[in-house]
Amino acid sequence: MQVTKENVVKKSLRGPQEEFMSMRYFGCVVTLALAGAIVATAQEAKTQVKHEAAPLTSPASGKEMFVSYCASCHGKDAKGDGPAATSLKSLPADLTGLAKRNGGKYPSDKVTSILRGQTNLVPHGDQEMPVWGPVFWRMSGGHEELVQQRIANLNRYIESLQAK
Ligand code: HEC
Repeated sequence: MQVTKENVVKKSLRGPQEEFMSMRYFGCVVTLALAGAIVATAQEAKTQVKHEAAPLTSPASGKEMFVSYCASCHGKDAKGDGPAATSLKSLPADLTGLAKRNGGKYPSDKVTSILRGQTNLVPHGDQEMPVWGPVFWRMSGGHEELVQQRIANLNRYIESLQAK
C-alpha cells in the first residue's frame, strides 16, 4: 500500500465530542449518536478514513473495546501503527510502552483521565486522540458504574499488553 499526502482524507477525522457538537448544531437527534469509531480501509493506493458510529461492545471485554475503538489508530497490538495512523498529524502513541515510560508502573489513572478527557494531551490546537468518556456514557445509558467498568476493563487489557 502506497500512501501519499494527497490521497489521505484528513477532514473526516473528528473526535467524538466534536462530532457530537456538530450534530447538535445541525439539529439532529443525538440520543443514539454513538460517534467515535474511526475505521480505516486500505484500498489499492488509497487510505480512506471514515468516521463511523462506535459499535456497541461488551463492557466486560477490554479486548473487544480495544479492537473496536482504539486499534484503528493505535494498532491491534497497541504499538501505534493502526491503519488510520498515517493520516493523523500526530502519531498515535505506542501503548505497550506506557508502563516503561512511567518507571515500570502501568499508569491506569493517567489512561483513565485521558479517556475521560480530563487530561489534555495537546496544550494548543486540536487533539486527535478522541475523548471516550461521553461516548461510553451514552452507550451505558448514563450509568456511571458501567462507564467505570468499561474504562477498568480497557485498562486491564492495555496493561496486559505492556512490554517487559
Ligand atoms: C483517531 C485516532 C485515535 C483513536 C481512535 C484512539 N487514539 Fe489514543 N491517541 C491518538 C493519538 C494521535 C495520540 C497521541 C497524542 C495526541 O497527539 O493527541 C494518542 C494518545 C493516547 C494515549 C496517551 C499515551 C501517552 O503515552 O501519553 C493513550 C493512553 C491513548 N491514546 C489511549 C487510547 C485508547 C485506550 C483508545 C481507545 C479507547 C484510543 N487511544 C483511541 C489517537 C487515537
